[in-house]
Amino acid sequence: MKATLVIRNIGELATPIGHSARHGAEMNSVRLVADAAIVVDVETIVWAGPATEMPGIVGPVPEIMDAGGRAVIPGFIDSHTHFVFGGYRDEEFFWRASGVPYMEIHSRGGGIANTVSATRAANLDELFAIATPRLERMLELGVTTVEGKSGYGLDLETELRQLEAMRILDTRQPVDIVPTYMGPHSIPQEYKGNPSGYIDFVINEVLPRVQEKQLARFCDIFCERGVFELEDSRRFLKAAKAAGFGLKLHADEIVRIGGAGLAAELGATSADHLLKASADDLEAMSAAGVVATCLPITAFSLKEPYADARAMIDRGLAVALASDFNPGSCYSQSIPLAAALGALYMHMSIEEILTALTLNGAAALGLARDRGSIEPGKLADILILDAPSYRHLAYNVGMNVVHTVLKRGKIVSVRS
Ligand code: NIG
Ligand code: FE
Repeated sequence: MKATLVIRNIGELATPIGHSARHGAEMNSVRLVADAAIVVDVETIVWAGPATEMPGIVGPVPEIMDAGGRAVIPGFIDSHTHFVFGGYRDEEFFWRASGVPYMEIHSRGGGIANTVSATRAANLDELFAIATPRLERMLELGVTTVEGKSGYGLDLETELRQLEAMRILDTRQPVDIVPTYMGPHSIPQEYKGNPSGYIDFVINEVLPRVQEKQLARFCDIFCERGVFELEDSRRFLKAAKAAGFGLKLHADEIVRIGGAGLAAELGATSADHLLKASADDLEAMSAAGVVATCLPITAFSLKEPYADARAMIDRGLAVALASDFNPGSCYSQSIPLAAALGALYMHMSIEEILTALTLNGAAALGLARDRGSIEPGKLADILILDAPSYRHLAYNVGMNVVHTVLKRGKIVSVRS
């Protein structure tokens, strides 16, 4: 076997296995190998297993990396973020802390609308400069692939600019960026009281441009009472599907209106939030193979009850965990906090959490074929933890336990 890199002296290798989402009870079964080694050729994993069984290497002598007995897991896939935005909303955080509901701030013309003003005012270079350090933080936390949504422009120019910024960022730093067009994130001032008119504009004026410039892989919508109701959501998502985009929904986050059922009906790749989703709609998602993405730091920040990940997994759904990093409902990129909340409040096992942050995150982006696990043929996106066991991911509450990050077989971050 040819190799450019061998990672040896791995105390514990922990990884889900597979090339598609792990559903239900499968989420709990991860491969655990003590005293492991991983063999990488350029950017691809060619072998992983017990060090004593490592095959011989032929050709040029590979680089040898000593993991020092630490635990090793796949790179995290943060499959739901809004990381390209201007300005902050710290004032709103404290209003919410004192009891003002998120949607009340939203309907008063605050919330997302504030970020829209700040983002419209930022040019491409400024968006690039704002987002770059955020990606650096993600990388330190072990995020090797991130999804990013537009939706803070709501007009043609700014939406395209947000997506353009992600395209450029993707080529300038190691984290792979999967862009999502989320024009229907909120109803802009220009279409106040006329969500259907705005959806017409989005379908007729923006979607074709995003498609023609190939600026996004997915489309997403805030399917919510008082924002985009089911009928407008269906219309937008059908148009997006017809144009070849994968579908995502912010579904049943604040009020149960059936967004999860719509995701199932349209064969969305994922439905996200799901705090209020009905049992029937979750059942339909399970049957349709829609990944259920839970965003516990948002529930935590909104002081809302967590999505019932336990029931979802017990029903056979594939659950992913993501940060939902955004300036409003969740100003946090903390994968470690998401892991701890999953364990403490969502009754997920640490194995389910690991699967949810890696392979199922990949599946939520349609990328489970080439990433999300440590096995031959997958990209060498690998984390060496500053801990003897993957269990420290949740146990070391809210703390970053990532020591070294490898992206496509290259060291891209090392804890100092
Ligand atoms: O995922 N709920 C809608 N969208 C985001 C929040 C965006 C914002 O508040 O800026 C979410 O929670
Ligand atoms: Fe979101």
